[in-house]
Amino acid sequence: MPYYSDEIINEVFLENDIVDYVSQYVRLKKSGRDYSGLCPFHREKTPSFHVSQDKQLFHCFGCGASGNLVQFVMRIESLDFVEALKLLADRAGIFLPENESTYNNAEYEKKQLIYKMNADAARFFYHTLVDSPNSETARQYLRERKIAAKTITSYGLGYAPDSFNALFEHLLKSGYSQEDIIRADLAASKDGRIYDKFRNRIIFPIIDLRGNVIGFGGRIIQNEDDGYKAPKYLNSSDTPVFSKGRNLFSLNFAKREKTNEIILVEGYMDVISVYQAGVRNIAATLGTALTEQQAKLLLKYFGEILICYDSDEAGQAATLRAIDVINSVGGKSRVIKLGGAKDPDEYIKKNGIEMFRQLVRKAVPSTEFKLSLIKNRHDLSATDGKIKFINDAAEALVGIEDAVEVDAYIKKLSDETEIGKDAIYSAYKKKNAKKYRQKTPQRLKIEKRTDKNEQAYFDAGNLNKLAAAERRLLNLAAQHKKLSRLSEESLPFSEFSTDVHKQLAQMIYRAWDAGKEPEPAKMLLNFSGEDLKDASCVFYNMEVYDDDEQTVIDLINHIKREKLQMQINQEKDPSKLKELLQMLTKFGEE
Ligand code: GTP
Ligand code: MN
Repeated sequence: MPYYSDEIINEVFLENDIVDYVSQYVRLKKSGRDYSGLCPFHREKTPSFHVSQDKQLFHCFGCGASGNLVQFVMRIESLDFVEALKLLADRAGIFLPENESTYNNAEYEKKQLIYKMNADAARFFYHTLVDSPNSETARQYLRERKIAAKTITSYGLGYAPDSFNALFEHLLKSGYSQEDIIRADLAASKDGRIYDKFRNRIIFPIIDLRGNVIGFGGRIIQNEDDGYKAPKYLNSSDTPVFSKGRNLFSLNFAKREKTNEIILVEGYMDVISVYQAGVRNIAATLGTALTEQQAKLLLKYFGEILICYDSDEAGQAATLRAIDVINSVGGKSRVIKLGGAKDPDEYIKKNGIEMFRQLVRKAVPSTEFKLSLIKNRHDLSATDGKIKFINDAAEALVGIEDAVEVDAYIKKLSDETEIGKDAIYSAYKKKNAKKYRQKTPQRLKIEKRTDKNEQAYFDAGNLNKLAAAERRLLNLAAQHKKLSRLSEESLPFSEFSTDVHKQLAQMIYRAWDAGKEPEPAKMLLNFSGEDLKDASCVFYNMEVYDDDEQTVIDLINHIKREKLQMQINQEKDPSKLKELLQMLTKFGEE
């Protein structure tokens, strides 16, 4: 069986979204934090099939079918692991090599080298900014823009010195080859000489979700008023580890915020200044229009995208494009309107962060934003203008999935123009039908399967109290480092009662040790068949607890008590039995 590196598997997971994929087969509706629908793996009338976007897992409470996206594909398309992985890779435009081992190692190592070189370059830029006597202008510039020392450190901002090849020389000395340095787009060769790509610029390292430095943005040290003698910003070109359309600036930080919304801005400086002021669920595209991949990536971590682009005309046009891109991947968006400032950075400098927070709360739904722009384009005092307005407005409503929403907007349009609701509705319906014909989605036929064994399996009654408590405990440990530590102190992984739980506990404890958040979808790749169902149940615990820490302590006591009880039931020796019974009182009664 071919072997694929974690790197490639990671990429396949990152570039595909389970809700998106499963929606081809199941009509999913948002329900609480999850999505639910009718299970494609057994017949049912009420939905018991759940998909979690957070965890990238599916789970059917009716038949027990469960797993991650690859496992969903394996099952619904009857494919083996490699075939399913291929299908998902193709879908995301990721190249999966046929002859994996040779490709893997060479390609993988090339990437690793560039990550390392980028990290070294970032350190070089940072030290140049902070320590070098020749960097006073750069430091002065950042001071003027009110960037605090702490922010410089947390973003790893730097300065590329005013020199032809200072970084190049530095990297050569560190042992990198000329060829690799050029491949990483840190230098380029011209007229037989090697030049640093970034010269005399403030440097913004771009960091991916795994913490790798993948590229850089560099700003010229000049103010708008003086005019620019060179492009204001330079960005790394695409390299084996960097693609402008697939990454976002500061998403690595934003991802940690547990907010439903992500604020999307245009510029590096906007992100940094808003982040510094304390609003951290913010990210920026990398100098290009928002792509579908970026929108999907954002929607993987956040429920809604709040677009906060520059207030000029270009910014408005870009906002409209971004709304369409987000709609096209099934996401929700709203628009933050900046009054009296050209961009978020300027806005908070003028008005303070509290006013900005208020703007965020007042973000308007995208459709409303679109309609108000369209309205401004037409003269509603003339009949002709009204008709054109209604036509454009009807077009803007196409694609909204919620019928009630469409209805509400149509009513509003009718009030504004005094054109009847029915007439507007029929204009909308025509446009909607046309759009729908244009892209008839190829629905895949699915054969409903029923498996009686599955049905019986999932009754909670099948599960003993011990295993049930362990499930809850593992669920909590996977969510919070503190709870995992608490659990590990009393229950080393080897003390869990089943092999599946032992393996999961080990993976969860290890992940936190390595400073990583455990990833349910990845962990489930280690299981199949009945074990997969078991493992998946751990992450599909819907219970909510008041005080998680107390719950963990209670669960641990409960588990210890259950284990003792099992020993007691089997113990024949009276003196040992007495000992065990005494221990039992230590853990308190139920
Ligand atoms: P400041 O002007 O320093 O406040 O930066 P800003 O981030 O607000 O810049 P601006 O609003 O002008 O541009 C937004 C984003 O577009 C920048 O962060 C860059 O990513 C990108 N950008 C701006 N100018 C250029 C350019 O000349 N070339 C390229 N490739 N990208 C640019
Ligand atoms: Mn700006």
